[in-house]
Amino acid sequence: MLFAVLLAGPAGAQPNPALLHDKQAFIADLMKQMTLDEKIGQLRLISIGPDMPREKIAQEIAAGRIGGTFNSVVHVDNRMMQDAAVKKSRLKIPIFFAYDVVHGHRTIFPIGLGQASSWDMGAIERGARVAAIEASADSLDMTFAPMVDISRDPRWGRTSEGFGEDPYLVSRIARAMVKGYQGASPAKPDSIMAAVKHFALYGAVEGGRDYNVVDMSPQRMYQDYLPPYHAAIEAGAGGVMVALNSINGVPASANTWLMQDLLRKDWGFRGVAVSDHGAITELVRHGVARDGREAAKLAIKAGIDMSMADTLYLQELPGLVKSGEVSVEEIDRSVRNILGAKYDMGLFQDPYVRIGAAADDPPDLYAESRMHRADAREVARKSLVLLENRNQTLPLAKTATIALVGPLADSPLDMMGSWSAAGKSQSSITLRRGMEEAMRGKGRLLYAVGANVTDDQQIVDYLNFLNWDHKEVIQDPRPPSDMIAEAVAAARRADVIVAAVGESRGMSHESSSRTRLDIPASQRALLQALKATGKPLVLVLMNGRPLDLQWESANADAMLETWYSGTEGGHAIADVLFGDYNPSGKLPISFPRSIGQIPTYYNHPRVGRPFVEGKPGNYTSQYFEEKNGPLYPFGYGLSYTDFTVSAVSLSSARLERGGRIAARVTVTNTGRRQGEAVVQLYIRDEAASVVRPVKELRGFRKLALEPGESRTVQFDIGEDDLKFFNARLEHVAEPGEFEAQIGLDSQSVQSARFELR
Ligand code: NOJ
Repeated sequence: MLFAVLLAGPAGAQPNPALLHDKQAFIADLMKQMTLDEKIGQLRLISIGPDMPREKIAQEIAAGRIGGTFNSVVHVDNRMMQDAAVKKSRLKIPIFFAYDVVHGHRTIFPIGLGQASSWDMGAIERGARVAAIEASADSLDMTFAPMVDISRDPRWGRTSEGFGEDPYLVSRIARAMVKGYQGASPAKPDSIMAAVKHFALYGAVEGGRDYNVVDMSPQRMYQDYLPPYHAAIEAGAGGVMVALNSINGVPASANTWLMQDLLRKDWGFRGVAVSDHGAITELVRHGVARDGREAAKLAIKAGIDMSMADTLYLQELPGLVKSGEVSVEEIDRSVRNILGAKYDMGLFQDPYVRIGAAADDPPDLYAESRMHRADAREVARKSLVLLENRNQTLPLAKTATIALVGPLADSPLDMMGSWSAAGKSQSSITLRRGMEEAMRGKGRLLYAVGANVTDDQQIVDYLNFLNWDHKEVIQDPRPPSDMIAEAVAAARRADVIVAAVGESRGMSHESSSRTRLDIPASQRALLQALKATGKPLVLVLMNGRPLDLQWESANADAMLETWYSGTEGGHAIADVLFGDYNPSGKLPISFPRSIGQIPTYYNHPRVGRPFVEGKPGNYTSQYFEEKNGPLYPFGYGLSYTDFTVSAVSLSSARLERGGRIAARVTVTNTGRRQGEAVVQLYIRDEAASVVRPVKELRGFRKLALEPGESRTVQFDIGEDDLKFFNARLEHVAEPGEFEAQIGLDSQSVQSARFELR
C-alpha cells in the first residue's frame, strides 16, 4: 500500500520510502522539499462541522493547508480526505484523524470519575484498549485523552471527565490509559495515539468557573497538579493538548516556560503539542496579544505546534516569517513534531492503516458486533460506590415488588455522561431496563418518572443550548405534583423504592460550572414525598461531581453512587442492587458537606492551628456552623461484606537511603460473602523544610477475599515514596520521621512510624 500510494505522485516531491527505517532522516528529507506555505499548512488542525464541510476540507487538504482533522468518524469521509492528502496534494503527506475518545468510543465506559472509583488499573487499561480498538476501526488515529486534570473543586463541570483529586491515583490512571490507547505502539492498526490534556492545571480554575485563571504556587503545581501529565508522558503519550487557562498570569497557549522549559527540556517530551479549540485566538481576549497576529506569534514561539479550529497560523505566520518576527526554525520545530507524530502513528508506512479498503468498510456502524458490552459491564460494576447501606437494605431480592422512580431511571442519554464520543444513546442500557431484565419472571418493577431533573426552565434552556445537534433535556409537561403523586402511589404498592436521581449529564460537562451542589429542588421534593411513605428508600445517584448529600445521607436507607456508568450501566447497577456483584468502588474525590467547605481534598497542607475532631474550641482552622471534614472521605466505599485491617507491622523502623522497608497489614473478610477491598497506603511526613500535606496516598492494592479469609498485604516503602518538591523545587527525600498509614479509606487507618536517615 505504502509504495503504491507514495510513489504515485510527481517525481521529486514526496516522502521517501527508502528512508522510512530512520525517522529523523525521513522527516529531514521531507522537510527539505517543503515550501514555507506547506509547512504552515501542517500546523492546522481543523474540525469538521457545519461551517467546514468535508468537501471544503478536502480542497484545503489537497492544497496542503491542513495537517489533521477531528470530529469525523466515518470511513468514507476520512478516506476521501486522506485521498486528497496522499493523492492530490503536492507532497502527499498524510493527514491524521482525531476525536475525543475520552471514556469509550462506540461502547461507552463510565466517566473518568467512575473509572477512577474502580481503583483497578487493569480494568481502566482494558477500557482504554477497547476504546482504541473501536476508534481505530472507525478510522481514527488520535484521541484527545486521557484528561488528567486534578480537580478539587466540584463546582467545575469537567470534574466528571477527570479522575479526581489525588496526584498519585490520577498518575497511575494516566499511565494505564496511555498504555491502553497506544497498546504496544501508536503505529499499530488497532492503536490510537494519546494526547494528554489539558496541559496544564486546568482543574484548578478559580472558583470552579470553566476557562478561568489558575494562580498557584510552584510547590503545589509540582507536587499535586503536574504529576499526572508527566506520568502520561513518561508512559509514552505522543501528544499533549494545551489548556485554555492562564497560569500565574501567562496563558498556557503562550507560555514558554510551560511548553519549553518544563515540557520539552525538563520532561523531554518529543511529541506533538496541539492547542485547545480556538485557544490561540483567545490570547487576544486574555489580554496578552493585541491582535491575531500577535497571538499567532506568541503561540508558535511558545511551542504550540498545531492550532485547533482557527485560521490564525495560516493567515499570520507567512507575514511573521517574512518580517523576521518568527524564524523558519521556529516553524520547523513544530513541523518536525507534527511529522514525527504522523510517523509514530504509522501514517507514512500506510496512510490508510486505520481507514482500510472501501470493500472492508463496516456495513453498519452501529452493529452490535462492533460493541464490547461485556468489558463495559465489568468496568461499570467496579466503578459503583456504595455510600450507605443501613440495615442491609441492599442487596434487594429479585422477587420483591420494587418502585423504580426518578428522572434518571430511564434516560439513555444521561447514562453515557458527557464526551460520549460515537456512543449512541439507543445502545444504552438504562437502570429500568437493567432491573427489568434481572427481575424478569421473578418480582415486579413499578416505574414512574416522579420528577423532571429540574423544573428551572432557565437551566433546561441552558443545557439544551450546550449541544446544538439534539435536545439534551426533554421535560415531562405534567405538573410536578401529579408526577410525584404517581411515584408515591407506585411506592405505596412496593416493598422498596429505588430512586434514580442526580444531575442530567449536561450539568457535569464542559462549561457547566455550578453554584450549588445539591440535588435539584424538583427531585428533592420527590425524595421527600417518597420518604414520607415510610418504605425503604434506595438512592441510585447519577452525577458527575461530588454533590452535597447531607439530606440524602440522613434520609436514605441505602445510597449507591453510580456516576454516569455508560452503555452497560443499567446492567451493572442492577448487578450491584441485586447482589450479583459486591460493590468495590472507592471515592477518588472527597464529598463535601456543603458547597462552602470547598475545597475539601484529603491531602491538604498542615496548618498551625488544625481543627481536631471531638475537641471543641475556637481559634482553630474550621467552620463553626457545621461539622468539619468531608461527608464521605477520599478512598471511601462500602461493601456487602466487612473487612478489618490489623495493626501495621514494619520490617524495620529505619529506612536506609537506597533501601526499602516493608509495611504489612493483615486484611480479613469478617462478613459472609466474597468481596474486594482496596487497601490504601498513606504517608505522613512529620517534619520537613516546607509545609507538607497531612498525608499522601503512596500505594494501594485491590484484593478479593472469601468470607473468613485473611491476607497479608505488603507495601515496600523506599526513599522515592518520601520525596517532595522543596522550596527550590528539588525533588528530595529529607531525613526525619514518617508515619505509614494503612486503611480502607483516607480517614480510618492504622499507623506505624519509621525514620529515614
Ligand atoms: C474543547 C475541549 O476543551 C477539549 O477537551 C476537546 O478535546 C476539544 N474541545 C476538541 O473537541
